[in-house]
Amino acid sequence: MTVTAHDGTTLPGIGLGTYRLNGADGVRAVRDALASGYTLLDSAFNYENEGTVGRAVREADVDRATVLVTSKLPGRHHAYDAALRTIEESVYRTGLDAIDLYLVHWPNPVTGRYVEAWRALVAAREAGLVRHIGVSNFLPEHLERIEAETGVRPVLNQIELHPYFPQVDQVAYHRERGIITEAWSPIARGNDVVGEPVVAEIAAAHGISPIQTILAWHVARGVLPLPKSADPGRQRENLAAADVVLTADEVDRITALGRPDGRMKNQDPAVYEEF
Ligand SMILES: NC(=O)c1ccc[n+]([C@@H]2O[C@H](COP(=O)([O-])OP(=O)(O)OC[C@H]3O[C@@H](n4cnc5c(N)ncnc54)[C@H](OP(=O)(O)O)[C@@H]3O)[C@@H](O)[C@H]2O)c1
Repeated sequence: MTVTAHDGTTLPGIGLGTYRLNGADGVRAVRDALASGYTLLDSAFNYENEGTVGRAVREADVDRATVLVTSKLPGRHHAYDAALRTIEESVYRTGLDAIDLYLVHWPNPVTGRYVEAWRALVAAREAGLVRHIGVSNFLPEHLERIEAETGVRPVLNQIELHPYFPQVDQVAYHRERGIITEAWSPIARGNDVVGEPVVAEIAAAHGISPIQTILAWHVARGVLPLPKSADPGRQRENLAAADVVLTADEVDRITALGRPDGRMKNQDPAVYEEF
């Protein structure tokens, strides 16, 4: 299972979240994930673990060319020159030749410099510092503005997305434009949603775990989830969900768990500012 963007960029069905995977324990966890077959790693300047992720990729017994490393530009560095320096610093921290996917972490629309940040990502791609560029937490209005002002459409948008917040309209919007949807906190941090009766029922029908059911729901919707786990067994469990096929009815029943106030935290990208 893979997902493909408007420009042909193709990504695997499931990637690894790395928030809070830091230091030597983090290197071990990311190496375990690579050994299990993960080929897409999420990271961010603000997670302070680009070094951890880069070291794991350099140490792992895998071909560098088969691994996609992601990082993200923090809100405090949206000014063009600062953004470019930050991207250079991200690459240096990984110790890799380049970063495969680089995203604007949040639009920070109150500060209002996300178009400038996007221009810096376009320049970084032209300079070979990064291979593909995208965004995170962008609403349709932010996506439209960066494309109108630069002529460049992001390959993906990484957004909060789980059964309590299924983002039906935004996923459809991305699909129409060939923008890959990546899901952050895809299992809602493994909390209440795992105990939902509908999830348990579908899990039992397929002989899989509730978390695999939720991840298979993402995959069935054409969404690329980024579950984080530090544990090799749970990493394998999560990756195996890419091969589970749910019925359209099962997908709809999980989507129906959604609610307007389903965000995990009060982080509405229309007003939220992340630095
Ligand atoms: N762009 C953004 O603004 C943004 C915001 C938030 C997150 N993210 C990205 O999205 C990634 C994922 O989100 P997240 O870390 O917030 O939450 P998540 O992936 O929804 O949940 C992670 C939690 O679930 C547990 N877990 C994972 N697999 C499990 C399994 N099979 N069984 C039981 N428990 C399991 C993990 O514990 P163990 O580690 O102990 O297994 C961890 O506590 C992040 O790591 C980060 O890369 C991006």
